[in-house]
Amino acid sequence: MHAELKQAIEAIASRYPDRKSALLPALHLVQKHSNGSISPEDLAEVARLLGVSVAEAYGVQTYYTMFRRDPVGKFHLQVDTNIPAMLAGAEQVVAHLENTLGIKVGQTTTDGLFTLSTVEDLASCGTCPVIQVNDRYYEEMSIERTDELLASLRRGVMPDMPVAAHFATECGVLLARRAIPNATEIDTYLATGGYRGLERALERTPADTVSDVKEANLRGRGGAGFPAGVKWSFLPKGGDKPVYLICNADEGEPGTFKDRQIMEYDPHLLIEGMTIAGYAIGSKLGFIYIRGEFAWIAGILERAIAQARSRGMLGTNIKGKGFDFDIVVHLGAGAYVCGEETALIESLEGKRGNPRLKPPFPAVVGLYGSPTIVNNVETLALVPYIAEKGPKAFQQFGTSNNFGPKIFGISGHVRRPGAYEYPLGTPLETLLEAAGGVTGRLKAVIVGGLSVPILTAQEAQGLIMDYDACQKRGTMLGSGGIIVMNETADIPAIALRTIRFYAHESCGQCTPCRDGSHTIASLLARIVAGQGTSGDIDLVLKLCAAVRGSTLCPTGEAFAMPIEAMVTKFRPEFEARACARTATPAGA
Ligand SMILES: Cc1cc2nc3c(=O)[nH]c(=O)nc-3n(C[C@H](O)[C@H](O)[C@H](O)COP(=O)(O)O)c2cc1C
Ligand code: SF4
Ligand code: FES
Repeated sequence: MHAELKQAIEAIASRYPDRKSALLPALHLVQKHSNGSISPEDLAEVARLLGVSVAEAYGVQTYYTMFRRDPVGKFHLQVDTNIPAMLAGAEQVVAHLENTLGIKVGQTTTDGLFTLSTVEDLASCGTCPVIQVNDRYYEEMSIERTDELLASLRRGVMPDMPVAAHFATECGVLLARRAIPNATEIDTYLATGGYRGLERALERTPADTVSDVKEANLRGRGGAGFPAGVKWSFLPKGGDKPVYLICNADEGEPGTFKDRQIMEYDPHLLIEGMTIAGYAIGSKLGFIYIRGEFAWIAGILERAIAQARSRGMLGTNIKGKGFDFDIVVHLGAGAYVCGEETALIESLEGKRGNPRLKPPFPAVVGLYGSPTIVNNVETLALVPYIAEKGPKAFQQFGTSNNFGPKIFGISGHVRRPGAYEYPLGTPLETLLEAAGGVTGRLKAVIVGGLSVPILTAQEAQGLIMDYDACQKRGTMLGSGGIIVMNETADIPAIALRTIRFYAHESCGQCTPCRDGSHTIASLLARIVAGQGTSGDIDLVLKLCAAVRGSTLCPTGEAFAMPIEAMVTKFRPEFEARACARTATPAGA
């Protein structure tokens, strides 16, 4: 390993209170400089530099899908095939790539130019099909655009390919700067009212901000809708351990692509929100745990953080008020479960992303055993508005108990899939209209990301998009990732793809999740292939019931609920498909 690489790893390690935390970023760095894979020798060297055992480092390398042991081609084409991608035609893109390149998924062309892989959701669901080439995304990929991409790559050029990426904002809070040029620059942010919330917060006490956020009833946007102010007040009072703030930017839930809109187009909004939150909870150090595939967004954040530091908005003695706070951007490495807050903390400590048993909750025992608050990007990005304008102004958006703006990511069968910022409590119909309306006839909709129960078109009628109303309809608002399906949607195939995702992502700690997901996947595969029976369908339902409530983290629930709902609500489709091969042909 080159001396410069070792120095760079040393520099990364110095950012963390515990140098073991540098394991994931160090492995990313080594892989980038070594033909897209990590050799056993380099792994051992990184382990030595960071003071972890080689066995531990190997355990980490093999846990995360982004770390490879075998070299890949010059251009690694990774096509996302999760549900929104499936609805947008990703399977045709994969087939076209296989035909054109003359290789199958998992192979490399003989000239070493291309490796083809399929991957799980890339948080680009509104602009699917998406192909990740090395560390760049190519979105809205039709067959023609795929050919254009290949032609350019063959010339050795990573092309710029514009995307439509639809969006609209009715609230003008989270996506206010989405259309403003250079909105990632601090000067643009300041010129458009940025950092006023921080200024106002620093004029008051930390307790005032906690009380404002509580009064605003800001519910966490990561999925569960837990009130942020209440979570902040769970921190033990007067302890001597440092308090950490973690921004959850893992954005791994299929159907969800909202947090990237904030980080990519308005990074200072998040930085300001974290700084105010840091002040409120008495933290001096925050982390942004961002999914590994978003390396370029991590770059945007790093740049914005450096600007904020240089203008006295971050670092020591912020705005001359004696408050110190800084932010470290930490790249994950491809593991959905690391979005779960305790798995995320393990991962940030440089370990495999295995969820921890709760309690204790992170607010009491979190990162490095210290009190830690984990909040979603969107939650933190709403804090500056509350700090500047107050809780009453925040509550002008939304419905009772469900206040504030929300970014709804709409994907699947609509004319203009994209990110739509509307108040919580907006009718689903309004959102679908904003997205250009359903193409064809609405058959079903998943309103909160892949892990929530599907609704039939009839059940979705008149649905109000807030936490409580969704729960009353037997589903959840979750992350607000709305996946729309028209009459062409093949629900058994969607159920199979759903369970394959969870089977792939299960961390493997609990038997019901690890074995249950794989067994359900085999049963559904049999059904989809027309080789199943009614008994198989019953068994799927039995297994889902057995998984529910019997796993260490909510991932078991996250697949048992949607699969159960798909099978129960569309059972005739599963019955017809299961017996398709064995049914007597008409007229025989
Ligand atoms: C399997 C799993 C994946 C999750 N993924 C994410 C994620 O990508 N982003 C996120 O903010 N929260 C995710 N969560 C929820 C987090 O555990 C946590 O509740 C959230 O970050 C808290 O933020 P909030 O209170 O601001 O909503 C996930 C939870 C589970 C069980
Ligand atoms: S439920 Fe699944 S993902 Fe969660 S801890 Fe258990 S095995 Fe791991
Ligand atoms: S990014 Fe393609 S399915 Fe989400």
